[in-house]
Amino acid sequence: MSAPNIETIVSLSKRRGFVFPASDIYGGLGSSWDYGPLGVELANNIKRSWWNWAVYERDDIEGLDSSIILNRSVWKYSGHETTFSDPLVDCRDCKARLRQDKLDTDDAGKFICSNCGSTNLTAPRPFNLMFRTTIGAVSADDDPAALAYLRPETAQGIFINFKNVLDTSRRKLPFGIAQIGKAFRNEVTPGNFIFRTREFEQMEIEYFVRPDEVQRLHQEWLDAYLEWIKSLGISAENIKLYEQSADELAHYSERTVDILYRYFPEREQEEKQWDELMGIANRTDYDLRVHSKKPEDAEGKRINPDSTEDLSYFDPQTNERFYPYIIEPSIGVNRTLLAVMMDAYTERTTDKGETRVILKLAPDLAPIKAAVLPLAKNKPEIVEMARRIKKNLQPSMRAVYDDTGGIGKLYARQDEIGTPFCITVDHESLEDNAVTVRHRDTWEQERISVDSLRGYLADRLA
Ligand code: GAP
Repeated sequence: MSAPNIETIVSLSKRRGFVFPASDIYGGLGSSWDYGPLGVELANNIKRSWWNWAVYERDDIEGLDSSIILNRSVWKYSGHETTFSDPLVDCRDCKARLRQDKLDTDDAGKFICSNCGSTNLTAPRPFNLMFRTTIGAVSADDDPAALAYLRPETAQGIFINFKNVLDTSRRKLPFGIAQIGKAFRNEVTPGNFIFRTREFEQMEIEYFVRPDEVQRLHQEWLDAYLEWIKSLGISAENIKLYEQSADELAHYSERTVDILYRYFPEREQEEKQWDELMGIANRTDYDLRVHSKKPEDAEGKRINPDSTEDLSYFDPQTNERFYPYIIEPSIGVNRTLLAVMMDAYTERTTDKGETRVILKLAPDLAPIKAAVLPLAKNKPEIVEMARRIKKNLQPSMRAVYDDTGGIGKLYARQDEIGTPFCITVDHESLEDNAVTVRHRDTWEQERISVDSLRGYLADRLA
């Protein structure tokens, strides 16, 4: 089972402290969200899992953390200033502003307003998605000399550091650079909770390859990501591939394959249930060329007179100099978190006919690994023992102590937030120095000695 719709996750998130509406006490700020105590743990665990998998477990990736605000020339030569836009239309009837490429059409091929159903829409015009800001103590907010942008993707910070990383790490092709960081887009129609927001986080790899190896390695990355996504506990039946058509490809891409997740299972039409979790693009040698000082256009003019570097690569084995091709797997932290929560969502009916929510998160991702619960909170020896056990677990895993309800209620609370293990300290524990470990997914219980508890849990959390 997985969540029947995103709304179920929205209410669980608010109720239990995963995600809250941002600026809520001032009426919110259109589609902005804050990550609460459990949400920040889950997001951090996803990012840690990705970094371990991408950077530590492979031998061919280096990490990077580049600036959010870059020299404006980066966005000029990357093509974002001229092409990073969505087709904006206005509904003349309800005044809604909409993205034309996301609208349905009627039988005559006319676009339908998703707000009021009218087809009385303006012609589309490009709306650039980059957030603008100014640098320094400028005299006017629109001073073009001070204009800068918040990055709409982390990728460009990687391209412009290609030579720095190559020279300092002494890498040979193929190799990659990984980065996790915030990106900003002034989306025309943000929405669907954390699926599309104006501020979000990306985990991107730019993988530099010889042009003749690009197809094989593109496929390898696709296969690798499908495996990593499954390792997050996301079931294969909620994942599918989508090959972008020529008119959907970004200006830099020769081929992009998206991995889609079933974010909208409640929709009647099967093909409308899916949307993009991530994309894996073949960006060709576009990026390293456009940021280099040497390449010339057909008339012999430098395409980038502002760059001071040449980002080509010299292959000592073949004595060739060329601009590497780039394979770019790019995935959003927030969309991953949403898919992970939706897929982990399960309901189970108790013997008494009550419905319980169980968030069957992969143990590695669970915000809290173990909850230590005293069976009698009015018995000081039991409370002391439970607190001591929690303290002993704490350095190696996130553990909590909770005595704020009856045991049934405490179990239910931990199930709902995905805690894999509840540890109950009872009267017998004082005699046999053992505790009851309850498993979230099966509700089965085992008696484990306190001395072996840490190792027992660590084995099952790995
Ligand atoms: N560097 C390539 C790039 O940025 P993209 O398809 O525009 O490609 C990559 O974005 C990923 O970033 C998406 O697959 C998605 O997971 C995430 N993403 C993009 N826009 C987003 C938004 N407005 N809100 C949340 N996540 C977003």
